[in-house]
Amino acid sequence: MASFPCVHHIEIGVTDGPRVVNILRKNFTFDVVAARNSKVARQWLLRKHDTRYLVTCLKSTQKEQIQKDDYVIDWMDVPNMTRRDYSQEIQRKDSVFNVCLQVDNIDKVLDRLGTYGVRPFKNLKIVSDSSGSVKTCAIKSCVGDVYHTLVEKDKSYRGAFLPDFKEIKCSCDSTKDIFWNKMEKCGDSEVLCSICSNTGDTILCDNERNDRITNLGTDFTKASNTDSTLTSFDHVAFAVEMGKSPEVIEWYEKCFGMRRFLINNEEDDNKGLVLSTDDVGLRLRAMEYWKCAETGLEGPKVDNSKTDGNRLSFVLVEGLPPHPGSNAINQVESWLSQHGGPGINHIALATGDIKSTVGGLKQSGARFANPPPAAYYSEIGRLPDIEKAGEDVGVLRQNGILIDTEANRIGDTEADQKGDATERYLLQIFTEPLLPKDPFFMELIQRVGATGFGSGNVAALYRSVQASIIRKAQEFT
Ligand SMILES: [Fe+2]
Repeated sequence: MASFPCVHHIEIGVTDGPRVVNILRKNFTFDVVAARNSKVARQWLLRKHDTRYLVTCLKSTQKEQIQKDDYVIDWMDVPNMTRRDYSQEIQRKDSVFNVCLQVDNIDKVLDRLGTYGVRPFKNLKIVSDSSGSVKTCAIKSCVGDVYHTLVEKDKSYRGAFLPDFKEIKCSCDSTKDIFWNKMEKCGDSEVLCSICSNTGDTILCDNERNDRITNLGTDFTKASNTDSTLTSFDHVAFAVEMGKSPEVIEWYEKCFGMRRFLINNEEDDNKGLVLSTDDVGLRLRAMEYWKCAETGLEGPKVDNSKTDGNRLSFVLVEGLPPHPGSNAINQVESWLSQHGGPGINHIALATGDIKSTVGGLKQSGARFANPPPAAYYSEIGRLPDIEKAGEDVGVLRQNGILIDTEANRIGDTEADQKGDATERYLLQIFTEPLLPKDPFFMELIQRVGATGFGSGNVAALYRSVQASIIRKAQEFT
């Protein structure tokens, strides 16, 4: 069987676990479905369809203890990474740092990695509980503080997430305090729920307790009733230092069999897709798992009928040198400085209906980057594209949603470009920075036949995101 990797989950290391779990749960409507409490860390698994975030909060930073833990990585312990905005002492920061890949044959992947001199950062282990077992190890990526945990699940594994994580289905808590008290106890094999007194691997209220549940009101493990329709991870964007993209692509080609592809006809094979305006200077390159190359440059389709339908797609973003005489601070360089070096810049979440998703998330309290100027939705902006696509400009403007048509897709004939190009488009929006101590943000994307990344909107998006980063940084200082 082929060693086909896909994104199993993405891990966020944080200093304030409850706060970040609550942002994802309350504002972005994720469900808390599993938790773990080990000697060195508390961990929560949040899920929305195939989108899974693992939030990790360290209790100990002792290297030896962390190394013994089956799952925990200290995201601040990065050899050779220049934490360039750190002063005298290492300050603990938040970071989205681990793209966990599920593979069919972990030994085969490790053999391949070994061929290129890549050794596991955490050695291969078999972790088991009553739900089954998995093989797991972790490797350090060539990008900044990015790691990849590898997971091979036993075919008969029937747990909610991974062995040693306790499934949370309890509905009997009615207050936030009780919820966190319960979470504190997760991972122990003692009483897990302070009200219904359920014990064991699964916290589950049975039917006899339904009356009590109803009377007690809100289920704090569940997100709001709004179904955000977030379905899967669409792509992961790395911010890298100027000129570093080619070696990153080479590393992922060797290690994971990924392949670079050209985003559109404007991309230069050597220079990447260069986006340069008076105040924005970016270079993009993109790569996907090699499977995509077997069907030309179409990205692998996300099959929402299956679990683990996350496409393995990475975008590399690097800054351009400033224009001669310009004092403008490059957006990517600014991000690198705030993050402390290269890392995961943003993650795009796919949705089938971005308008209702954004509307619902705003109602839940999610905060998005500043909308583009009004001119964006006018005749001099994207109004013709919006109308040709049959989208309602009022709804897009009201929600700050951007559109990018694909008139320049690789392989298109001239007739294609005159014909149905505007029928292939994507809608996207960026959130404000998600974490208290990091500039990471999320993107929501709806693809209508489009395979690109919204390069036509990059300048507008980066201006609004940069304004949000500055505002958020001011809030926390
Ligand atoms: Fe993106």
